[in-house]
Amino acid sequence: MIEKINNLKKEILDKLSEIKDSKALADLEVFYLGRKGEFTKILRDISNVVPEKRAAMGKAANQIKKEIQEKVNEFKMQFESKETQEGEEDITLPGVKFETGHLHPITQLQYEMEDLFTSMGFMTLSGPELESDYYNFEAINIPPYHPARDTQDTFYIDSKNKEGENDLVMRTHTSSVQVRAMQKHGAPLKAIVPGRVFRSEATDVRHEHTFYQVEGFVIDRDITFSHMKGILELVGKKLFGPETKIRMRPKYYPFVEPGSNGEYTCFLCHGKGCNLCKKTGWLEILGSGMIHPNVLRAGGIDPDEYQGYAFGFGLNRLAQLRYKTDDVRLFNSGDLKFIKQF
Ligand code: DAH
Repeated sequence: MIEKINNLKKEILDKLSEIKDSKALADLEVFYLGRKGEFTKILRDISNVVPEKRAAMGKAANQIKKEIQEKVNEFKMQFESKETQEGEEDITLPGVKFETGHLHPITQLQYEMEDLFTSMGFMTLSGPELESDYYNFEAINIPPYHPARDTQDTFYIDSKNKEGENDLVMRTHTSSVQVRAMQKHGAPLKAIVPGRVFRSEATDVRHEHTFYQVEGFVIDRDITFSHMKGILELVGKKLFGPETKIRMRPKYYPFVEPGSNGEYTCFLCHGKGCNLCKKTGWLEILGSGMIHPNVLRAGGIDPDEYQGYAFGFGLNRLAQLRYKTDDVRLFNSGDLKFIKQF
């Protein structure tokens, strides 16, 4: 009997030395040591042995079983650590970083402006990028013969109307949405229009053919220039810090009368004069003015009853100033090395 047990032990140990993975090891364990296993059967047979020998034999058999079980456990541990190294994840390793991306710096600025203006009761509107000559120019007081057309190098689209004119353009500014908004919403009206605009520009470090603006306008009874100045000063403080001041200087735009440029104290030198502000202490940031009566009329609003102001910011210029970028073209370059900095 003992010999039979020892043979089985040898058989088991031989098989163990050939086993390659934990699955085969588990099968072997069941086959020999399981409830109906070969080794278990022999142990059961011990009950038939004559009583005088039974105790000693049982003890010896249990000892052998213990040895085999220990050997099996040893293999089990070996396989487990090996398989962890090969297949399973080692949770102590540093993880793989997910690239999540983020909003484009100009979009961030746009959203900031939208939040600010909506907090002051402005609607956020949009309009078509491919626009009619009418809304882009005529409706806002720039008739076909007007020399102001030359200040905006326009992409005319190659489609002619009955009169043989190119009547579709890539909008040159978001002011094109002014009359659309008046026709749709009437007065009183308080809205901003963020959006993309296009000019047939020879590009350089300060000029792009495709860029972003935020247009704004307020139309109501008894609206004055000082209402506009107040709002625009607040925007300046929000953009460049609470100590920012504004000054308005006359500037001609056909769709406003009077027209003005809005300038903020330079955030770099705080008005003392530096290279950024060309030693003037002021940064020219926006165009603005009181909406021309012809524009109100085109929008179906009676200029004797309502007045309004309008303004336009260039978002690329704002972003260029804020991030002190020397070349504005970087923003649309698609260069991830640049974009990932924001
Ligand atoms: N549309 C002008 C431009 O693109 C900016 C502008 C100037 C908008 C004066 C206005 C304004 O609303 O009143 O250069």
